[in-house]
Amino acid sequence: MRRKIIAGNWKMNYTLTEAINFVNILKDNILKVDNIDVGICPTTICLSDIKKMVKDTDIKVGAQNVYYEDKGAYTGEISAGMLKDIDIDYCIIGHSERRQYFAETDEGVNLKAKKLIEHNITPIICVGETLSEREQNSHFDLIKAQIIKALKDINEIDAKNIVIAYEPIWAIGTGVTATSSQAEEMCKYIRDVISEIYNENVAENIRIQYGGSVNISNIDELMSMPNIDGTLIGGASLKPEFIDIIKSVEKIK
Ligand code: PGA
Repeated sequence: MRRKIIAGNWKMNYTLTEAINFVNILKDNILKVDNIDVGICPTTICLSDIKKMVKDTDIKVGAQNVYYEDKGAYTGEISAGMLKDIDIDYCIIGHSERRQYFAETDEGVNLKAKKLIEHNITPIICVGETLSEREQNSHFDLIKAQIIKALKDINEIDAKNIVIAYEPIWAIGTGVTATSSQAEEMCKYIRDVISEIYNENVAENIRIQYGGSVNISNIDELMSMPNIDGTLIGGASLKPEFIDIIKSVEKIK
C-alpha cells in the first residue's frame, strides 16, 4: 500500500513574513497527520525558517529547485548539500514552469534527481504535456521519454523512493483540471513505463501524484483513482483550502 502524498507548490508567492503567518495557520490545523505525507514547498528564502517552524509537526518541507553541482561558481544557485544541511525533505524538479522559462532539460532533471538522492532528499519529478501535444496524441510518447531520461542510471532501490508528479501543462493554474479518468490513464501509463524500465515491484512502490488545478471540489474524485497516490497543488496550497484538502485525503482508508 503506497502512502499518499500531498504537497503544496507555493511557486514565487509569499514573503517570509506572509509565509510565517500562513504556516502558523497550517500548524494550528494539521499538527499531526497519521496516514499520509504532507509537504509544503516555499521559496528558497523561506526554507530554513519554515523548516524550524514545523519541526514538531508532521509537515514536511520541500524546495522548488536545486542545482546538480556540489558547490562553486554558479551564481544564484543552491546545492543539494545546502538543502540537506537545513533538513529539507523534498525537492520539486522539472516543473513545467522551470522547463518553459528557465530552459530546464530532461538531462538536467536527471542530474538533479541523482544529486538529491545522494543527499537523501526525495525528488518530486514533474512531467507533463502541452495541450497541442495532447491534441496531436503525442502525449504518451512524450511522457515516456521524460520519464526514461529523468530516471537514467538511477537504481531500483532509489527509484522506489522517488515521487513522480504528472502535471499536464494545460491544467496548471488554468482552473481546467484533467478529468479523473484522464489523470488516472496517464498515471497508470507512467506506472507501466516504470515497470518496463525496472520491474513490477518498483512500479508498485513508486508514488505518482497528479497536479493541475487541484482543489477541494475535485480532490476526492482524483484520489479515488487507483494509480493516483497524491497531488501536487499550486494555487489552492496558498489558501486555508489546503487544510480542507489534507483533511479530506486523511479520511481515505
Ligand atoms: P495549480 O499548480 O494547482 O495552481 O494548477 C500546480 C503546479 O504547478 O504544481
